[in-house]
Amino acid sequence: MPIIARSLLSANFLKLEEECKMLNESEADWYHLDIMDGCFVPNISFGPMIVEFFRKATTKICDVHLMIVEPDKYAEQFKNAGADQLSVHLEACPHLHRNIQQIRSFGIKAGVAINPHTPVSELSDVLPDIDLVCMMGVNPGFGGQKFIPHTFEKIKQLRKMIDERGLKVQIEIDGGVTLENASSIIAAGADVLVAGNSVFKSADPKATIKQLKQL
Ligand code: DX5
Ligand code: ZN
Repeated sequence: MPIIARSLLSANFLKLEEECKMLNESEADWYHLDIMDGCFVPNISFGPMIVEFFRKATTKICDVHLMIVEPDKYAEQFKNAGADQLSVHLEACPHLHRNIQQIRSFGIKAGVAINPHTPVSELSDVLPDIDLVCMMGVNPGFGGQKFIPHTFEKIKQLRKMIDERGLKVQIEIDGGVTLENASSIIAAGADVLVAGNSVFKSADPKATIKQLKQL
């Protein structure tokens, strides 16, 4: 059964209380909170203050995806805001191992996110030190984009790397996940599906989450 992480990027921010209630009642496992800085990605979203509100409104796991440069400057603020896990982008971190150590030192889970152009082989040396790989199925910055088919091959390669080394790293697929492609993504080896537009724009978000859970 896949873990479902609901992305809040495509929520109606005028109705966040209702969204939280619905999410809490749903079978979603994680809330996926997308932090964008207008520098690493061409969009700006929200900061630790909003994460703190969500932390108070839910008992579910707050999965924070940092699409920002120099994440070491802000990681502690996000941890203090209540993040259960923090993912940093490999492409934004010249000292990736240090970033991972910093997150682990907070006693929370550490993830590494990779863009569509980044080969999974670049994760090889940090794989034993992380809990999660957030593999982008689209170029980061916006919800509602189309899944890049080459991602299937990358999921299979990463699954093989993790299993051959007996590691417990989770593979999270972020961007472009729909009810139509979700079962193929799971079959390729993913553990976690980030659901943004496919859930928020559906007529019955709770039912859509249930359908994804049953895949
Ligand atoms: C994209 C974000 C995603 C996004 C997913 O940069 O990291 O989490 O919200 O949205 P959908 O599921 O609509 O592609
Ligand atoms: Zn994300």
